Amino acid sequence: MTDMIRAQVYIANTASVSRFLDGYSFFNSPKYAIFPGFCDVHVHFREPGFSYKETIASGSLASARGGYTDVCTMPNLNPVPDTLSNLNIQRKIIETDACIHVHPYGAITVGEKGEVLADMADMAPYVPGFSDDGRGVQDRSRMREAMLKAKELGKPIVAHCEDNTLLHGGYIHDGAYAAAHGHRGICSESEWGPVARDLELVKEIGCAYHVCHISAKETVDIIRKAKAEGVNVTCETGPHYLVMDDSMLKEEGRFKMNPPLRSKEDREALIQGIQDGTIDMIATDHAPHSAEEKARGLEKSPFGITGIETAFPILYTYLVKPGIITLERLLELLTVNPRKRFQLPIGDDFTVWDLEAEYPIDSADFLSMGKATPFEGWTVQGRCMATVCDGKLVYKAF
Ligand code: DOR
Repeated sequence: MTDMIRAQVYIANTASVSRFLDGYSFFNSPKYAIFPGFCDVHVHFREPGFSYKETIASGSLASARGGYTDVCTMPNLNPVPDTLSNLNIQRKIIETDACIHVHPYGAITVGEKGEVLADMADMAPYVPGFSDDGRGVQDRSRMREAMLKAKELGKPIVAHCEDNTLLHGGYIHDGAYAAAHGHRGICSESEWGPVARDLELVKEIGCAYHVCHISAKETVDIIRKAKAEGVNVTCETGPHYLVMDDSMLKEEGRFKMNPPLRSKEDREALIQGIQDGTIDMIATDHAPHSAEEKARGLEKSPFGITGIETAFPILYTYLVKPGIITLERLLELLTVNPRKRFQLPIGDDFTVWDLEAEYPIDSADFLSMGKATPFEGWTVQGRCMATVCDGKLVYKAF
């Protein structure tokens, strides 16, 4: 088979690729690239509790269409996975409905309320880490307790960093757009303040610590410095923070997410962070809501955009094509680094892309139930043609 292959194969274990190409020989063309399945450590699939926004079935299908074969789901659900029996409700749905590997996080605190630690020990064998995503753990001593427990259990703390005392009802970045249009802003310190606090604790405790969706230049600097000191920290940013800033905001809910799109300087610092290795991985924070919820404008709609089906095309078109990062670096950020940090097996799952296909993003094509994307109408290059997970063709566009 190897002599025949003219597709660009980026996956080390080619046994399953080989079988696939035997069956679908038309993919033997240099315009197709075969990548290891992508891994997103930050998605919201909304089940149990909010299946009108997304289900594990729809979220995992959308992920397969985005080229993903592993995702980690956030615990802002109902019930919150804060005990093993609550977690098992979610695990049961995953077992029957997910077409890719879905790894649910356990909550750090009961109900994500920040008061009492969740049953972390009971859940530990079944989760990639612990998070209260959607909310920051406000109390330093509670976070300290959680870090000690996480260290004992050998699992990372996955921190949504947000200081509620600095929010003042803000909903977009506290920058030029907010000032010009009379909106209430969210300052960058609400993010970097808790990151700095937590890093002091990590220095003392030595647990594995991962920072979610970083958006501010100060956060990049603080994490760069901590890494230089040998602190056990990793972090992620999202595609939208790398290619957009607050000058591109419009008065529509599809531009609203938490943390918000920040300034051009912040975006440039994040790009530097992915170039120099300060930022370890790109995660989408795929956060679907209903059309009605997202139609309420910037102030009134809930935080969150859908992102799992647009991540690779956006990153390939706007970072790789212009030479800002190499395709190899993008693959590290999407495949190798997230799995390494969260100890997820790499397997031989893969995804096939037509790198020459050019098209405008149209949310009507999404398999996700969430259609709110700031990338609506953007021209991108790269179309997912197939995704294979555990030897099964879980998505095909042919
Ligand atoms: O934009 C966001 N949406 N940020 C979060 O932290 C939560 C998420 C959600 O659950 O919708």
